[in-house]
Amino acid sequence: MSYLCVNIDHIATLREARGEEEPDPIEAARLVEKAGAQGITVHLREDRRHIQDRDVVTLRKTVKTKLNLEMAATNEMIKIALRIKPDQVTLVPEKRQELTTEGGLNLKSSPARFEKAIDSIQRKGIPVSLFITPDPKTIELSARLGATFIELHTGQYSQSFRLGGNVKREFASLVFGAKLGTNLGLKVHAGHGLTYQNVTPIAALPEIEDLNIGHNIVARASMVGLEKAVSEMLVLLK
Ligand code: PXP
Repeated sequence: MSYLCVNIDHIATLREARGEEEPDPIEAARLVEKAGAQGITVHLREDRRHIQDRDVVTLRKTVKTKLNLEMAATNEMIKIALRIKPDQVTLVPEKRQELTTEGGLNLKSSPARFEKAIDSIQRKGIPVSLFITPDPKTIELSARLGATFIELHTGQYSQSFRLGGNVKREFASLVFGAKLGTNLGLKVHAGHGLTYQNVTPIAALPEIEDLNIGHNIVARASMVGLEKAVSEMLVLLK
């Protein structure tokens, strides 16, 4: 069984669309935890398009489960993470124009920079997760760079599920990646594009500890309420 970390960025997206105080991500996190989820995930983007610095500061004080801070591996973000001390940092690639995190980290473009970032965060007692595609070479490099976790990008799997692609192949590559990561001593998470329809086989993989799910839960919450949306996902994870 995997644990559920709910990404509440889109609650802040709605707030920012109006430029006012509601809906409040802090209250959303409280309801997500009340419904039984095991963690809260937020992405503090360079352009601050949804989650704001003050949200992360307050969430650090209010979240009782686990606060997972997604961020780019920039000096600015590393300083913020070291100050706020989330329970976990997930390093993600970030492009200004993208609608959501598009691909996995390109670790081989600058391994020394990633190694330094991972080390500076983990030295302060905050474990680091690397958001990567389930590519064996990238998984091996993640282990060499000293990360505690990898988060396998489930976007290709989700897309093939939605558009009728080769779901079996994409699923097999996640299974292989999860086993390889575990064999290399990494703890394995997964996320991106997961839905009530496609989550069950992923949640059943014994190697995968946490699932980070945002869009589909918040979309469902807009119809039935956040606690119900989270509870429904928790049932599927069990
Ligand atoms: N994991 C990571 C690293 C992400 O960047 C995102 C999207 O913010 C998610 C998981 C959640 O993806 P989704 O919103 O499609 O569930």
